[in-house]
Amino acid sequence: MNEHDELPNVVMPHPPHRNLLRGQKALVTGANSGIGKSVAMFLAQEGADVVVNYVYGDAAAHEVVDEIKAKGGHAIAIKADVSKEDEVQAMFSQMIADFGTVDILVNNAGLQKDAPIDEMTLEQWNTVINVNLTGQFLCAREAIREFKRRGVVSEISCAAGKIISMSSVHEVIPWAGHVNYAASKGGVMLMTKSIAQEVAPYRIRVNSVCPGAIRTPINQSAWETPQAYDDLMRLIPYKRIGEPDDIGRAVVWLASDDADYINGISLFIDGGMTLYPGFATGG
Ligand code: BGC
Repeated sequence: MNEHDELPNVVMPHPPHRNLLRGQKALVTGANSGIGKSVAMFLAQEGADVVVNYVYGDAAAHEVVDEIKAKGGHAIAIKADVSKEDEVQAMFSQMIADFGTVDILVNNAGLQKDAPIDEMTLEQWNTVINVNLTGQFLCAREAIREFKRRGVVSEISCAAGKIISMSSVHEVIPWAGHVNYAASKGGVMLMTKSIAQEVAPYRIRVNSVCPGAIRTPINQSAWETPQAYDDLMRLIPYKRIGEPDDIGRAVVWLASDDADYINGISLFIDGGMTLYPGFATGG
């Protein structure tokens, strides 16, 4: 095979259930589509009860809940804008009332509002920072309050709680035309590591996952035409786009006790996008 041969975009079949998260209560923000949906499905498959948070798209959120229930899992949908303090607090109160506690927070909700820097409006800047960064802060704070209140319940997990921040390869790769987004993810990186350092003594683990190009609505223009897909492949040494399930699987593992000694990392899941593919030849 030479490197220009067409390679199939194969992803592994779903692994057998190990019930890795049995008895755990998980909240996934922005779980009505894309990566968040896959994460919610995988957490439920491993035995967690799941809150499917969303802000727009009631029908899609309820479909995720129905899909989880159809597979024998337990889920509820809660609408809340993660950038609003009162809505986040109400969501956590509802979760704790319905499920009893929170063991896992997946801070996934995020968006892009792209523009050249000299055309970017303050509203585009604020919207991205408020959802992607402040939203993760507000949810992490509520989760940690609950983790500290409850402490470790050893039959459930070695840890008092787990937070997984959805970051991006753009926590380290600068991104022209997406200054607000890259700034938000750079912020997520140091927020995640700083929180991890602060709460580790309470047996709380805080890690981030950094997806590369994953086939979701957020980046449809980067994969929907053959030309766009070919251009994208120049950035991906592994020569396939990522699928939401590539991320869902990794999040389950990071949230589980299999990853109990992992704290404060950025786990890149990007087909090698951060390997400076431009240097594969030249330099
Ligand atoms: C962005 C996508 C982009 C990918 C790789 C992600 O964080 O949301 O739009 O395709 O990074 O550049």
